[in-house]
Amino acid sequence: MFKGKARAYTNIALIKYWGKKNEELILPMNNSLSLTLDAFYTETEVIFSDSYMVDEFYLDGTLQDEKATKKVIQFLDLFRKEAGLSLKASVISQNFVPTAAGLASSASGLAALAGACNTALKLGLDDLSLSRFARRGSGSACRSIFGGFVEWEKGHDDLSSYAKPVPSDSFEDDLAMVFVLINDQKKEVSSRNGMRRTVETSNFYQGWLDSVEGDLYQLKQAIKTKDFQLLGETMERNGLKMHGTTLAAQPPFTYWSPDSLKAMDAVRQLRKKGIPCYFTMDAGPNVKVLVENSHLSEVQETFTKLFSKEQVITAHAGPGIAIIE
Ligand code: DP6
Repeated sequence: MFKGKARAYTNIALIKYWGKKNEELILPMNNSLSLTLDAFYTETEVIFSDSYMVDEFYLDGTLQDEKATKKVIQFLDLFRKEAGLSLKASVISQNFVPTAAGLASSASGLAALAGACNTALKLGLDDLSLSRFARRGSGSACRSIFGGFVEWEKGHDDLSSYAKPVPSDSFEDDLAMVFVLINDQKKEVSSRNGMRRTVETSNFYQGWLDSVEGDLYQLKQAIKTKDFQLLGETMERNGLKMHGTTLAAQPPFTYWSPDSLKAMDAVRQLRKKGIPCYFTMDAGPNVKVLVENSHLSEVQETFTKLFSKEQVITAHAGPGIAIIE
């Protein structure tokens, strides 16, 4: 019997990963850059044993169906191949999310599973290799191996595509990210399907590719010089461009709901009042607001008034993956 357990935190991209050039290996079209956060994480234990006849996957205490388990099995297969064994496994995963707000993240989940498998099978993979493995489960998971600011180098093959920490002289410690949780009933287009449809059909996708490197350069400059305004403006612009590509897809779609627009507008109003804060969004209606700790209370106050207290969650920079004994 081989056993391992790990914890990984979720991350939010400031420069988005949007589109794959290789779907099987999960090689992205562009580099992305994220901030790992402390408020949401996953703990995963894996046990490989000859007493299991099939792989099983429990999430928050519930045995998962075939579809959810399939992704996990494919991921386990990568590790079984690396270790040269064929034992079936039980995966027990727990998401730590303040409310049941649809924030369960594949990034933290697959990063934690990668760490757990590495420990269980005594593979001794270093963090860069672990990041490559996590990437094969879900692209954004490769960034959750590290804490703070993290860049995913797109690379050109399996070996060259991985994430690494971005030197920041602890700039991230000055920052907070306020999550505005927006629950609409609309059935979401998964990030996987959304980015595929956009790459294949959106006339705006080339515009995304043409400008993302410039955005990345500016964002890294902002980190280097600890320039919050440049950081926020670049993040917001890049996120809006990503969401712009979806409107020209065939069929078109959007992740925005009326409440997302309400939250974006509130950010703009705060800026007009002299409070620097900026938003970004991912493949869903939630809005994430980046602010310096010195202005955090004004942002929290604004959003708890506009929405409910339960809908507003504050996160700070979080650590990389941890092995739990
Ligand atoms: C919009 O990592 O969930 O959050 O690689 O297909 O599993 P797969 O996609 P995923 O995509 C994340 C997309 C995003 C932007 C980002 O996190 O960079």
